[in-house]
Amino acid sequence: MEKKNIDWSSLGFGYIKTDKRFVANFKNGAWEEGVLTEDSNVVISECAGVLQYAQTCFEGLKAYTTEDGKIVCFRPDLNASRMADSCKRLQMPVFPEDKFVEAVVETVKANAAYVPPFGSGATLYIRPYMFGSNPVIGVKPADEYQFRIFCTPVGPYFKGGAKPITIRVCDYDRAAPHGTGHIKAGLNYAMSLYQIVDAHEQGYAENMYLDAATRTKVEETGGANFIFITKDGTFVTPKSDSILPSITRRSLMIVAEKYLGMKVEHREVYFDEVKDFAEAGLCGTAAVISPVGKIVDHGKEILIPSGMEEMGPWTKKLYDTLTGIQMGKIEAPEGWIKEIM
Ligand code: PLP
Ligand code: COI
Repeated sequence: MEKKNIDWSSLGFGYIKTDKRFVANFKNGAWEEGVLTEDSNVVISECAGVLQYAQTCFEGLKAYTTEDGKIVCFRPDLNASRMADSCKRLQMPVFPEDKFVEAVVETVKANAAYVPPFGSGATLYIRPYMFGSNPVIGVKPADEYQFRIFCTPVGPYFKGGAKPITIRVCDYDRAAPHGTGHIKAGLNYAMSLYQIVDAHEQGYAENMYLDAATRTKVEETGGANFIFITKDGTFVTPKSDSILPSITRRSLMIVAEKYLGMKVEHREVYFDEVKDFAEAGLCGTAAVISPVGKIVDHGKEILIPSGMEEMGPWTKKLYDTLTGIQMGKIEAPEGWIKEIM
């Protein structure tokens, strides 16, 4: 298969329209089979549930070309089950989890020419999503839904790739206790836009959100979970009911323990502790592992000892092992890699 003529290594994290996308409709209480289509436009009622009351959720995962030329994706079953959780919380019908994985495979296969080559530094980002499509004017769930998957080749989420970033402590909250922070609802991202635009204007790459109830504990950023490394090499990552259960973070906890022999702590992390960590990073599908070099708290700078030049040594080991597993250079735990073609 001939690849598209794209300058893979200069890609940022943006949208490039590919050839095919998957669409399935939910009507009269049932999902239709779904098809691949070339039509990238969505036509819905002006009163669709998604447009009036933001009834929508999404997922994000990536396809990779391995060293031996296969196309694979990483733990799509976990995206399927997280999307099921999002749908239940938003009163949306679950797209069957096995069908979700099949649809991901079909969509990637149909766009194989857009999967960046091994070693190019780029990957194919896959975006499954669902929304209420029929008219809803009283506040209630829609009766009809559309589930779609498109994909787009992407480079690094943060400019500069693996260079450490500077973030700031945000004065706004991302998610309420007992709210929707643990699911991938579009509304969580809509309400973060004001903060991210402001952060960028002030020269910060991301916002560090604290827990809304006490503002003493580290939660996550707008699009990634945190990982920290203590001075004695322990892997620490925040536990909270109001953050997204990152698949990357859950995988890194296993990589840290089983591949790198690190002690792993998944626990509440107080902001006061952050100054004592040796390394810090953001992790997620888009972020992969993005090292954090500086955290600014209302003018007070916390300089992470690993610095602003490169990833800290443990972060680098975690990064190399995780991406090595994703790209077929390192043997993966059972069931982590879904071969597409
Ligand atoms: N946290 C938020 C708010 C996110 O949007 C994402 C991205 O999906 C993550 C964390 C990382 O999750 P994952 O590793 O499953 O991509
Ligand atoms: C992802 O990592 O897949 C996300 O959805 C995060 C988003 C900020 C792009």
